[in-house]
Amino acid sequence: MEGQRALTRGPDAARRPRTGLTRRRLLLGGGAAGVAGAGAAAAALTGGDDASPVALPPLSAGEPRQHAWDATLRRDAHDNVLAPRFHRLLLCDLVADPTPARARAAEAGLRRLERALPRSAAGVLVVVGWGPAWFRRIGVASPVPRARALSPTEAPAIDDPVAIVHLAADDEARLDRVERALLHGGTLRGARGSVSLTDLLRVRARRTGFVGAGLPRARQRDVVGLPGDRAIDRDAPLYMGFQSGLRRNQATEDDVTIAEGPWRGGTTMHVSTIELTLDTWYHGVDQAGRVRRMFAADATPQDLERRPDGIANPVRDLRDVARRRGVVGHAESMASVRRDDRPIILRRDFDSRDGDAAQVHFVALQRSIEDFERTRRAMNAARAIDASAGVGAQVNNGINEWLNVTARGNYLVPPRARRTCPGLPGWSA
Ligand code: HEM
Repeated sequence: MEGQRALTRGPDAARRPRTGLTRRRLLLGGGAAGVAGAGAAAAALTGGDDASPVALPPLSAGEPRQHAWDATLRRDAHDNVLAPRFHRLLLCDLVADPTPARARAAEAGLRRLERALPRSAAGVLVVVGWGPAWFRRIGVASPVPRARALSPTEAPAIDDPVAIVHLAADDEARLDRVERALLHGGTLRGARGSVSLTDLLRVRARRTGFVGAGLPRARQRDVVGLPGDRAIDRDAPLYMGFQSGLRRNQATEDDVTIAEGPWRGGTTMHVSTIELTLDTWYHGVDQAGRVRRMFAADATPQDLERRPDGIANPVRDLRDVARRRGVVGHAESMASVRRDDRPIILRRDFDSRDGDAAQVHFVALQRSIEDFERTRRAMNAARAIDASAGVGAQVNNGINEWLNVTARGNYLVPPRARRTCPGLPGWSA
């Protein structure tokens, strides 16, 4: 099996023993359990306490899209958007039958949160997404498919929670307070009334992380999957040492907004967990080799210095690249999947040390899950494999050699006004 090849060949050869499904994966748990009651699509939607409906504060003015964060975020000197530094992904099950009363109480909580804290990294950014399990539960056809494996070398757990809550902020302590108040029974100082969602949702799995200059280095100690004898670069925003999401190579929020149909103004979200094993990234390859693998076979560290907003990624015949160079780049492998000369997914990934293991929680937004799947399949660079003796499914194939996808899930992200219990019969905010 390709993933167990111990030795690599060709230029920039790196050595990495692969173990397939690892002990770490077992420790971390994929969160793949089925959703309780998922088969009960016709369950009593009218249950719950509708006797004393909660007063619903008006939706605050401003951006109607949950996923539109960029206008509130800081930018670097090259106009690249700087992601919020701390993140939580909370995969949730239903606590009880979803009723209009429970939806209303949850929506009231989210509105009170927005009144207490600005919708920005200086306050808190919130996205609530809904998976196929939600739509099954309410008996409505799901606008997003169940996730599936997207490369021949992966065997991810398929996440199928009812909902996912993505929280992000620059202040980790504030993020903790918000998470506690929303989903763990706490209260939020400064909020007028409860912001709790716990009459509706319960956290099944919690994923945490960070992205931003200096954070990987500050948090690399005792993390399995990182070299113990080498400090990550002082300014690196991610474990692998490069900045992702450079302006010229990201989709915009408008690009990924659903343009028509019932979910107009929303988007779709794919969330994967990727285990990293970076010993040979740092010890088997030098900086020039890392740039070739991350960007393109002919890219150099000097190119990155010249274009800190993202280097050009012309569409190349990957067979030809593999034959001539013995390696293909990660970004280069997806250059053919573009619209208006930009990728079709908006990457909001961040690093994690959940379970003391080096991971990436990869959050991608796009108009349709098909856009994600096309892009991710392109990353397999199937045409390049075996075009040259040195290029395999993982070896000398972008950064695939250091990545192992352990979980995938798909979600609909409705517009802000419809973010709670979308499509629930009898309920509109
Ligand atoms: C998990 C570790 C990953 C890291 C550290 C990483 C990092 C990077 C970096 C540094 C770039 C080039 C910077 C830029 O031009 O924006 C890039 C580009 C890109 N990455 Fe990743 N990436 C990872 C995984 C993924 C995955 C799983 C996908 C899913 C398909 C993906 C999709 C893309 C796309 C679409 C581009 C832009 C390609 C283009 O220019 O057309 N990346 N990534």
